Amino acid sequence: MREDQIGRALLQWYDAHARDLPWRVPPNSGETADPYRVWLSEIMLQQTTVVTVKAYFERFTELWPTVADLAAAEDADVMGEWAGLGYYARARNLLKCARAVVSDHGGTFPGTEAALLSLPGIGPYTAAAVASIAFDQPAPVMDGNIERVMARLFAVVKALPGSKPVLKAHAARLTPEQRPGDHAQALMDLGATICTPRSPACGICPLMAGCAARKQGIAAELPKKAPKKVKPIRYGYVYVVRREDGAVLLETRPETGLLGGMLAFPSSDWSDAPVEAPPCDLDWQDPGLEVRHTFTHFHLRLALRLGQAPLDTSPQRGDFVPKGQFKPSSLPTLMRKAYDLSEIDHDRT
Ligand code: ADE
Repeated sequence: MREDQIGRALLQWYDAHARDLPWRVPPNSGETADPYRVWLSEIMLQQTTVVTVKAYFERFTELWPTVADLAAAEDADVMGEWAGLGYYARARNLLKCARAVVSDHGGTFPGTEAALLSLPGIGPYTAAAVASIAFDQPAPVMDGNIERVMARLFAVVKALPGSKPVLKAHAARLTPEQRPGDHAQALMDLGATICTPRSPACGICPLMAGCAARKQGIAAELPKKAPKKVKPIRYGYVYVVRREDGAVLLETRPETGLLGGMLAFPSSDWSDAPVEAPPCDLDWQDPGLEVRHTFTHFHLRLALRLGQAPLDTSPQRGDFVPKGQFKPSSLPTLMRKAYDLSEIDHDRT
C-alpha cells in the first residue's frame, strides 16, 4: 500500500466507525467542530482516558458553553470541577488560555498552529490537534496512540522516546491536505480500538495490507520502550480535622507545585524524612491508616492524622469550611482518598 492508499483506507474506515464523542462532529456531516470544544477536550484528554473525560467535558460545557464563559469563571469553581482529572497545572493553564483568547483574540481561537502555540498551556500536541480538527490545517498530530500506529505501520524497532522524531516524520508524510482533522482522529480511534497496546486486532485492521510490523509478525512487540526508571517513595502526614459543627479544615495549596491551586487537607512536607506539621493544637488520633497515591515522578504515602476540633479552634493554617459547603468531589484524588479513609475510620468508631 502506498501512503495515499493508507490515508484513503483510514478515512474510509473512519467514515464507518468513528467513535461518537461529545466534542466531535460526525465525519461528512458538513458541520465544523467548535474550536473551544476541541481545545477543551484535547486538554482534558492529555494523560486521561476518553471514558473519564466524557463526564467532565459534559459538565464543563454545560457550566461554561463558550470560551468567554470559562474566562469569566471563578478560579476556585474551575479548579473544583477539574478535581479528579489530575495534573492540575492543566486546569490553571486552561483558565489562563481562555482569558488570553478573550483579551488578545476577541474571544475566538486563532486558526493556525503557530498562533495556537503562543497561548498558555498549548504545546505542540494541542496546537496540532486543534489546528487540524477545528481548522482543517494539515498539522501532524502526535500522541501515544499515533506513535504506536506509526511504529507498527513502518516497523520502527528503535525504542521510545528516542524514536519520536522518526515516528513524527512518518506521521507528517501520511497527513493529507484534505480532511487532516479526520485523519488525525481516525489514527487516534484506530490506536484506541484496533491497534491497541496489547493484542492488537490486526485481523480487522483497515491498514492490514500496508502494515510492515504485521508482515514481520512483530506488531504486538512495538513500539519498543526504553526501560522505565523506578519511582522513589516519599512520605508525609495529612491532617483531617472535623469541627464539632461538622465543618472541615481545608486550605488552598500554593499556585506553584503539586496540586497547585487545589483545595486540600493540610499536610506536612512530602519527603524521605517528613516532619509532623499539624495545622492546630489538638489531641491527634493515629488510626494507623495510610493514604497512597502515585504522581508522575514518585509514589506518596501519607500517614493519616484525625482531629476533633472544638468550636473555638483557630487553626494556624487553612479555614474551616461549613459542612453544607464542603463538596468531597471538589478535592483532588489524593485528598479525596484521605477523606474517604477518614470516613471509614469515623464509621468504625
Ligand atoms: N484522544 C485525544 N484526543 C482525542 C480525540 N480528539 N478523539 C479521540 N481520542 C482522543
